[in-house]
Amino acid sequence: MAISYQPGFGNDFETESVAGALPQGQNSPQQCPLGLYAEQLSGSPFTAPRGKNERSWLYRIRPSVKHTTSFRRMDTNDWLSAPQHSEPSLALGQYRWDPIPAAPSATGFLAGMHTMTTAGDVMTQVGMAAHVYDFNDDNPDEYVCNADGELLFVPQQGLLTLHTELGVMTVEPGEIALIPRGMTFKTVCAKQTVRGYVCENYGAPLTLPERGPIGANCLANPRDFKTPVAAYEDKETPCRVVYKWCGGFHETHIAHSPLDVVAWHGNYVPYKYDLSTFSPVGALLFDHPDPSIFTVLTSPTEQDGTANIDFVIFPPRWLVAENTFRPPWYHRNIMSEFMGLIYGQYDAKEEGFVPGGMSLHNQMLPHGPDAAGFEKASNAELTPQKLDGTMAFMFETRYAQQVSSYAASLPSLQKDYAQCWDGLERKFKSPT
Ligand SMILES: [Fe+2]
Repeated sequence: MAISYQPGFGNDFETESVAGALPQGQNSPQQCPLGLYAEQLSGSPFTAPRGKNERSWLYRIRPSVKHTTSFRRMDTNDWLSAPQHSEPSLALGQYRWDPIPAAPSATGFLAGMHTMTTAGDVMTQVGMAAHVYDFNDDNPDEYVCNADGELLFVPQQGLLTLHTELGVMTVEPGEIALIPRGMTFKTVCAKQTVRGYVCENYGAPLTLPERGPIGANCLANPRDFKTPVAAYEDKETPCRVVYKWCGGFHETHIAHSPLDVVAWHGNYVPYKYDLSTFSPVGALLFDHPDPSIFTVLTSPTEQDGTANIDFVIFPPRWLVAENTFRPPWYHRNIMSEFMGLIYGQYDAKEEGFVPGGMSLHNQMLPHGPDAAGFEKASNAELTPQKLDGTMAFMFETRYAQQVSSYAASLPSLQKDYAQCWDGLERKFKSPT
């Protein structure tokens, strides 16, 4: 099946998978075309300011009240929600992990989701969770609806197909995909191993950051975001829909597919984005800007410039600064930083941070280049250098990230991570 997309970010899109299915000139006719039901899905309060108001109108085979029956609470899995406290056996520190162990065969999406950290409180729509996924099996009759937040998929391995109420998207390493809060979807991996990271955003929807004096172009450009066209399943067989709601999982069984939207219009939509279309901006003479210059998407809070989440990438780019220590400097940060590596080599670490791995530098905990990276960067010939074949990212949040028991007990937790700074020797000599 060829998959089509519509370009743009925050647009008012319209699309129909059957000609004539989309009402024209109004949202809710007395009778919708083709016997469809009209339904609004609100992603913001009705009264949100115009620039932040998000909703879509869905024209579907059945209204979504028919896509749930009675719910049954499910057992807990490794997909956790805030608030939680860090696993008490884990002392405070900077942490780094190698990739999680490969999933056993026949592992589906829900069993393959593992929470690494949580921050804030899912019940007050504050904070986030950082998850990893690794699965290799599909249940074509199982659907998920997350009322707790939007899901930002950051694949690291394998082609993942996301079937949503508004259409179908594929996403692979080097791309990201977002499913809005409350939008039903299912995953398809076609029996291949898919692995990656997910940021679950409890707060304000991710949006494009302001560019300030950069102007109207560069960083992530709106036209490079792709929203699927309408597509629906006409399926009258037993299906299971799993709701995540206030951190709990609940299942409901219905006799048809909930992905039955034949046409829709609106601006509350899923989308994907190719990270290679990000146009980085940096220093042209000396020093380098804060990593916020690489923000792809941001979830703002009421406090200016203090994000619930910044999704930041460290993409291929030219390094040209003169008389400058070019990797990230040593720092402590009031924000907490969860990092992952999609491919290649991250420039602040010479070894130990591998694709599929993760690191966590929580609020106010010091970090920076390892000893080998410091020596190399301090003595490098400062010719223009292309940093190529690399893509690291960061989920950065204003809230402290609490480490899950799953993450604390992973064999891939590097017990010796902090030793990467052991080789940093005193160089200063006091005048005598
Ligand atoms: Fe940092």
